[in-house]
Formats: sequence, structure tokens, C-alpha cells
Amino acid sequence: MATMLLLPFRTLIPSSSSSSNFRPAPLRCSNDRQALFNRIAPVYDNLNDLLSLGQHRIWKRMTVSWAGAKAGDHVLDICCGSGDLSFLLSQKVGSDGKVTGLDFSKEQLLVASSKQHSKNCFSNIEWIEGDALDLPFSNGSFDAITMGYGLRNVVDRPKAMQEILRVLKAGSRVAILDFNKSEELLTSTITEWMIDNVVVPVASAYGLSEDYKYLKTSIRGFLTGKELEKLALEVGFSSARHYELSGGLMGCLVAMR
Ligand SMILES: C[S@@+](CC[C@H](N)C(=O)[O-])C[C@H]1O[C@@H](n2cnc3c(N)ncnc32)[C@H](O)[C@@H]1O
Repeated sequence: MATMLLLPFRTLIPSSSSSSNFRPAPLRCSNDRQALFNRIAPVYDNLNDLLSLGQHRIWKRMTVSWAGAKAGDHVLDICCGSGDLSFLLSQKVGSDGKVTGLDFSKEQLLVASSKQHSKNCFSNIEWIEGDALDLPFSNGSFDAITMGYGLRNVVDRPKAMQEILRVLKAGSRVAILDFNKSEELLTSTITEWMIDNVVVPVASAYGLSEDYKYLKTSIRGFLTGKELEKLALEVGFSSARHYELSGGLMGCLVAMR
């Protein structure tokens, strides 16, 4: 990927700095989950590549495409983590657009902002430390929203969906990528087998086996595609469709305001 970076236009600066583009917002969230994502931040990208054999890059491209971001748009990537979706969005919206990447893990945001130098993206990304359950934006601010592997991790999913709906412009879309909680026994068995026999052993090489054991529980506690569609319609989206990816291992909910 060609690089077009000088320095990130908006750099993540510790919240104590007075000249900060890094806007802290009050958090209402699980401290445990926040600590978990801070802990795994240094190895998160490597593990994603390793565990998905690079496939997560394809799923993320599809997610950005489904969100419908276009040149000049102002878009939001909620639970941006180390920024993969934000960087892809940056390419889509171009130099006239703007991307806001929001996460409650300072360590993940630091990784994201440090990667901005070496990424094929525009200098149009702002990183914000904030809570997906209390987005620090006014109503109807965004032309498109993405969320990758975030909805499964928030403590209040209806509230997260309401917040997305609130900050989206009318007629705009959100694309929410995550593990698919499959209704097919074979697919869910494969997913759980892979977590037990591939993901956790690999994570243990990084000293993170306990952290990755959480994955299986969180997928079990997640919503099926149909339930995600229902949730989106219940909170007020005008349409919602869940697409399965990679034989049903992953899924993407696409909802329009
Ligand atoms: C599995 S990571 C996904 C990161 C990135 N979107 C990706 O696809 O690689 C989930 C992210 O959600 C963030 N997160 C979870 N709950 C959150 C909340 N309530 N507010 C903001 N971020 C949250 C975590 O800090 C973590 O970075």
C-alpha cells in the first residue's frame, strides 16, 4: 500500500496535555474489559493476523464497503482498537473527508496513532478516548459508522445501538462486524473448537491465554444474526440485514437509519 503520510494530522496526545486533539470523555463501562483491551494492545494486531490467517483484512474491507462511506464524508469507527477499520475508512473518505476513531482503551489508541505514520491513509483521522455507550457527539453527526468486534464486548448492547442511531445522519448506514453466533451446530462447534485448540494455545504463547478464553464466553453470550437484526429494528433503524462471512464464522450487521 502506498503511503501518503507526513505525520498524523491529529495525533493522540495524553489527556493531561492542554493542546490535545485527544478528547477524553466520561466512561460508563466495564473496567475489567477496558483493562483486558489495554493489556492485549501490544500484541493485538499480530494475533489477529495469525489467528485469522490474514482474513480479518478482507472482512474489514467488506465492512467498510457495507457502511457506504464515500469521498468527503465524516465517518465514525466505534471501538476502533488499533485502528484497522479507521485506516480503511480514511482511504474511502479521502483528504476532504474525516474519520473519527473512538475507543475506551488508551493503549489501543496509542497503537492506532503510532501506526498512522506507516499506513496508506490520509491525515484525516482523529482518535478519541470515549465510551461507545455515551458517544461524545451531537445527533446526526456522521455519514457512515463502522464497529468491528465491539458490540459483543459492550456491557449494554441496546444502548450502544441507540447511540449509533442517534449520531448517524438519516439515510446513513452502520456496519457492525463480529463473530457470528451461528444457529448451525456445526459452525458453532467449529468456532468453539478453533478457540480451544488454536486461539487459546496461540494466545498462551503471548501470556494471554486467560484473556482469550473470554472469547468463547462472549460469543456464546452474543446475539445471532436474526437477533441483531431485531435489535436494530427495535431501537429504530429503518432496515437491518445480517450477512454471514467465511462460511458463517463471522457476520456483519448492516443497518440504515
Ligand atoms: C476486539 S477489539 C476490536 C478492535 C478493532 N475494531 C478491530 O476490529 O480490530 C474491541 C475494542 O472495543 C473496545 N471497547 C469495548 N467496549 C467499549 C466501550 N464501551 N467503549 C469504547 N470502546 C470499547 C475495546 O477497548 C477494544 O479496543
